[in-house]
Amino acid sequence: MYLDIYSGSATSASSPSMLSFTIRSFISKSKSKSKSNLPSRRYSLSHLIPLCSTSSPSSISPDLPTMSTSHNGSNQITPQPQPQPQPFQVAKRLEKFKTTIFTQMSLLAAQYGAINLGQGFPNFDGPEFVKEAAIEAIRDGKNQYARGYGIPDLNITIADRFRKDTGLEVDPEKEIIVTTGCTEAIAATMLGLINHGDEVIVFSPCYDSYLATLSMAGAKVKGVTLRPPEFSVPIEELKSVISKNTRAVLINTPHNPTGKVFTREELNAIASICIDNDVLVFSDEVYDKLVYDVDHISIASLPGMFERTVTMNSLGKTFSLTGWKIGWAIAPPHLSWGIKQAHSFLTFATATPLQWASVAALRAPDSYFVELKRDYMAKRAILVEGLKDVGFEVFSPSGTYFVVVDHTPFGHEDDIAFCEYLIKEVGVVAIPTSVFYLNPEEGKNLVRFAFCKDEATLRAAIERMKDKLNRK
Ligand SMILES: Cc1ncc(COP(=O)(O)O)c(C=O)c1O
Repeated sequence: MYLDIYSGSATSASSPSMLSFTIRSFISKSKSKSKSNLPSRRYSLSHLIPLCSTSSPSSISPDLPTMSTSHNGSNQITPQPQPQPQPFQVAKRLEKFKTTIFTQMSLLAAQYGAINLGQGFPNFDGPEFVKEAAIEAIRDGKNQYARGYGIPDLNITIADRFRKDTGLEVDPEKEIIVTTGCTEAIAATMLGLINHGDEVIVFSPCYDSYLATLSMAGAKVKGVTLRPPEFSVPIEELKSVISKNTRAVLINTPHNPTGKVFTREELNAIASICIDNDVLVFSDEVYDKLVYDVDHISIASLPGMFERTVTMNSLGKTFSLTGWKIGWAIAPPHLSWGIKQAHSFLTFATATPLQWASVAALRAPDSYFVELKRDYMAKRAILVEGLKDVGFEVFSPSGTYFVVVDHTPFGHEDDIAFCEYLIKEVGVVAIPTSVFYLNPEEGKNLVRFAFCKDEATLRAAIERMKDKLNRK
């Protein structure tokens, strides 16, 4: 397996035809990058990074053939004894971000046949009525570019749902932008509203795309850490990091990876700090329907907050369709304009038939959401109780489909060492949480398990851990 560093896609280059396809597509991409520093007439397979390791170019097998373009322009494969690896090229703004831990762990999981409780996607399918709506939309020819900020029916449906959930009345035309997943809503918000040098406050640990998109926007990131066991918001610390340069506070409730749901008191305190200091709030609420013992509150619904809040959400978690990547941002017109501009030049529009199917999804009866919550509560109970039985200190989540545990009773050096041991020796995948922290040291005692898996899978993972996980 190789990673094409330009497309980021995984490729099997094991057969000759695949190999030449890989080389061809690689060359055409390279050629189109006229400003790159790559030599214009010689290309090496060493630009393909073996995915099974985090290797540098020097670890690439020297006996791989390299590609040359002959004088008459035809492509030939000729053996080159000494390939000259080129340094990987990445703009400074992304230099410090590595292959995501989720990709690395999923690859290790496949390699060791481990049960994957790492990456946060369900191992069951989304609802039939939503899939049928997508198929129908494709058959009906709803297949060309959609309107940039969303098909009108979807914007109206999102506004209806937001009213139902929060009591807020929003203008579907001026205050909603449909995006390619919440990930694009996050990127468009940062790129559309943040200027170079603006300060943005982030609660650590946090979802990995925040720091990368803030870096792309040129923001200065300030972190405030949420600490176990409650992961409460340290309000005084938040006050102390706000400055005259603070443009926004980025929150995520329910929170990945901790499963914490921000309380009304915490949200009121954040709101009043932001109002007093004229600071915006970017609120990522992708797990809003996955709350168990408490209610989810959108900070936009608090007094004086709608006009300074961007609420971001998506379909993936609520409808077990994480691959569809339908998301949205809701904001008052003076903020939605910047987001719309960034979105126009990032993706312009999002998959038309899936937008039609999203209309069907978001109009689901209340019973759908009740059942979803009930199913997830059962899964949470299996995993939380199971992990306690195994011997972890478990921080039971009030929301999301994640559980964070303290692994230190098992005596491993840190979260990464523990996760490697867990995959290789026990056959279960968890995610080390240090990757979610601005200061990785703060997360080294914790790992995250996901319970968006069928019950048999959860029970099997628990059994493996009970059987094989030993204290050092
Ligand atoms: C907190 C958080 N925000 C956003 C996303 C991405 O959402 P989407 O798949 O809709 O882009 C995720 C996905 O795991 C997430 O955990």
